[in-house]
Amino acid sequence: MTINIKRGEELVSYEIEEKNLTLLQVLTQIKTEVDSSLSFSSGCRSSVCGSCAMRVNGREVLACAYKPSEGDLIEPLRNVPVLRDLVVDMDKAYGFNKIAKAWGLPTSKSISVSPQDAKQNELQSDCILCGSCYSACPVYSVNSEFIGPFALTRSWKYVSDLRQSDISSTIAAVQTSGIYDCTLCGECVPVCPQGIAPKQDIVMLKNKSGVLGYMDPSFASSFGGGLTF
Ligand code: SF4
Ligand code: SF4
Ligand code: FES
Repeated sequence: MTINIKRGEELVSYEIEEKNLTLLQVLTQIKTEVDSSLSFSSGCRSSVCGSCAMRVNGREVLACAYKPSEGDLIEPLRNVPVLRDLVVDMDKAYGFNKIAKAWGLPTSKSISVSPQDAKQNELQSDCILCGSCYSACPVYSVNSEFIGPFALTRSWKYVSDLRQSDISSTIAAVQTSGIYDCTLCGECVPVCPQGIAPKQDIVMLKNKSGVLGYMDPSFASSFGGGLTF
């Protein structure tokens, strides 16, 4: 079986035996037996750490969870700097959690949360920061200041927590280069290995922002900026 790996400007083909291996196992085999210069990231080897995300035939996958097929094209994630071969620099994307103020504030112990309410933001806690959603996002590909999917999902996780005593700073932080820049295209949803739907979380943040008196700036400008609240 042949797989093709994008290495800088080059596309390098490797012949591998079909042994029902994961892509990460195949890459490790190539590195140890064929070409020690091949670079890629990995950690847990069990879909937990998020470090082995890359693209196969244009779609983001975790290499430790994907079984390669004949002719596969393996590329690094998009929209982030490539350090070498399949290794990318996620630092800027990780920094959006800080810009979005996506963290918990002191919670009110007097508010009890029902199991049903707790489920509302359980899934968002499962994000493994793999970066697949940033790679798939067409808005982030043209606007590197867009806060982007996983930071907005994380933001919603805290905003939707009924025990949060004050969500105003988190909501204010996602108004600029945030929720209104998202086109709700949904590209971030199918690539998430954790089944998280950042698009849906962004819709919820938009709704919450409306309740708190914020408005989509493009909608406001269509009124000539003449709306007063
Ligand atoms: S739904 Fe929004 S965050 Fe998700 S890929 Fe589309 S533009 Fe990006
Ligand atoms: S939301 Fe999903 S795709 Fe995005 S970083 Fe988290 S786990 Fe990865
Ligand atoms: S090596 Fe950790 S998610 Fe693949």
